[in-house]
Amino acid sequence: MAALDLAVIGGTGLYRLASLQDAEAVTGDTPYGAPSGPIRVGRIAGRRVAFLARHGEGHSLPPHRVNYRANLWRLKDLGASKVLAINTVGGITERFGPRVLALPDQLIDYTWGRTSSFWDGEGGEVLHVDFGDPYTPSLRRAVLAAAAKSGTAIVDGGCYGATQGPRLETKAEIARMRRDGCDLVGMTGMPEAGLARELGLDYACLAVVANWAAGCSTDEEITLAEVLAHVEAASAGLPGLFDALLG
Ligand code: HPA
Repeated sequence: MAALDLAVIGGTGLYRLASLQDAEAVTGDTPYGAPSGPIRVGRIAGRRVAFLARHGEGHSLPPHRVNYRANLWRLKDLGASKVLAINTVGGITERFGPRVLALPDQLIDYTWGRTSSFWDGEGGEVLHVDFGDPYTPSLRRAVLAAAAKSGTAIVDGGCYGATQGPRLETKAEIARMRRDGCDLVGMTGMPEAGLARELGLDYACLAVVANWAAGCSTDEEITLAEVLAHVEAASAGLPGLFDALLG
């Protein structure tokens, strides 16, 4: 299978890449089980790109049930060396209001009970990968350059806090995350980023801010309709960004 120039994992509200041309659906299992759904392999700006909807194309998988290992393994198996993860998030600090696109440079993992390593004791091998910078600097730089070229506004930097979900957080949990230094909160950033590092994949997170996190605005309640409307609006810049990234 020819190498892929980029693999994209789509989050809540992003189940297809509109600009992916001549896409072919590829299925297939891995030693870790089945990926979230078919992987669509096609072309953007003449380059080979794969797209996978993290929650399944019908959004049937909650964050704690996503088979992160199978997804990344299969993408690598198909020839990916670079993965751009799109994650829908809540905004905690001032710069990260609804509809912002952000490229975080740090993360804190609050998830629990998820299978978080390929090195699970089978075969007696244990690996401790370096994870000081969880997102690959060269891929982050490429995305920032593409954003500048395509005129897409992106906030550079910030800390992503990965929570367990699927419920949203309490105001006290978000206040603690703010004190910890988190700017964004989402449910799917981990273990995906750590697993990508274990596989030696370049990996960056493009966060789409869908709402203010609990207690960060005067809104009483966070609704799915609000989340989806903001994701749709923020995603309008993505085709131009992908064209610039791949062109
Ligand atoms: N919290 C966690 N995950 C999210 C949120 C949130 O407020 N919004 C979108 N994904």
